[in-house]
Amino acid sequence: MSLLEVRDLKVHFPIRKGILLRRIVGYVQAVDGVSLSVDRGQTYGLVGESGCGKSTVGRAILRLNDITAGEVRLDGTDLAGLSTGAMRRQRHRLQMIFQDPMGSLDPRQNIESILGEGLAAHGMGGSRRERRKTLIDALDAVGLSANALARYPHEFSGGQRQRIGIARALVLQPDVIICDEPVSALDVSVQAQVLNLLEEIQEQTGVAYVVIAHDLAVVRHISDTVGVMYLGHIMEEAAADDLYAEPLHPYTKALMSAIPVPDPEVEAQRERILLTGDLPSPANPPAGCRFSSRCPWAQSTRCHDEIPALIEVRPGHRVACHWVEEIESGEIRPHEVEAEMVPASEIGVEIPTVEPPAVP
Ligand SMILES: Nc1ncnc2c1ncn2[C@@H]1O[C@H](COP(=O)(O)OP(=O)(O)O)[C@@H](O)[C@H]1O
Ligand SMILES: [Mg+2]
Repeated sequence: MSLLEVRDLKVHFPIRKGILLRRIVGYVQAVDGVSLSVDRGQTYGLVGESGCGKSTVGRAILRLNDITAGEVRLDGTDLAGLSTGAMRRQRHRLQMIFQDPMGSLDPRQNIESILGEGLAAHGMGGSRRERRKTLIDALDAVGLSANALARYPHEFSGGQRQRIGIARALVLQPDVIICDEPVSALDVSVQAQVLNLLEEIQEQTGVAYVVIAHDLAVVRHISDTVGVMYLGHIMEEAAADDLYAEPLHPYTKALMSAIPVPDPEVEAQRERILLTGDLPSPANPPAGCRFSSRCPWAQSTRCHDEIPALIEVRPGHRVACHWVEEIESGEIRPHEVEAEMVPASEIGVEIPTVEPPAVP
């Protein structure tokens, strides 16, 4: 049994119409059957385009969103089934770090009160002196000194504010931290520092992370396992090294082909899979495989009729594609019309990447 196990999680948001918003005319299927698990001291990276449901998975794990169906087990206890009171007693074990550290830190509170809030809410932390010691230890863990306590969020840089956000999560000694786009708002130079810090903290505390990012490069080095999401489904999941070395799902291949290679010669030869068409609406997703409307390899009619299961095709490497073996062997070729293979040198797009964090 893993520390955190999410099983067949569904989060559907009702779409309401009418003056009193009483009429439900449909559902946004933001998350539609996601399973994942994370062990103590491990990191699960969840990636995919904006709108595919990543944050909703994170919020549902913390029960910040109602869960339509499925289970979220922490040490075996199904959180989805807990009463509000029982959930409140578990809440400190699960913490969240957000993309925008400024937006998530109250500008009118000093750092002492921001960091201490969680302890107070959970009746933790002991005496005033012990509590202060806990806060100073948390600041120390993120590389800030005790004199930060009396200061206010606007006195810090973006990177420092994200450190404060991390300290706030650490104060409660959580088992799991959901990091939702933890470095997306930061300068590229600061991103690697914050990712390094998260790794150091994990080594020291054994905390488990779910790291959510739209940028594949961000989760690459920090993750043990990576799951690739598309329109509420996980399309592929593997050990990070395996996924980046050999992406098997057409969607993952397309995402990877958009990452520039540092070597200019390799870069000029790099083939890019261009996805045509817009991301469909999760209120009206394609029947069958969610990716079928944009997949360069889609075959009629199976891909449009039948949802592919996430199946283990290599040890520890799961893929939700009916034709994964045929695509690998070259038996099924991409359609010319729907996907052009264009060398990257002919496309003027630049996708930002994060340098691998330097080993301290
Ligand atoms: N509270 C909500 N009510 C209705 N729709 C929502 C709500 N939260 C998210 N959504 C929708 O669910 C889908 C997934 O959103 P989200 O989980 O934020 O995606 P991501 O984090 O991958 O960008 C989007 O279409 C979004 O508009
Ligand atoms: Mg999000």
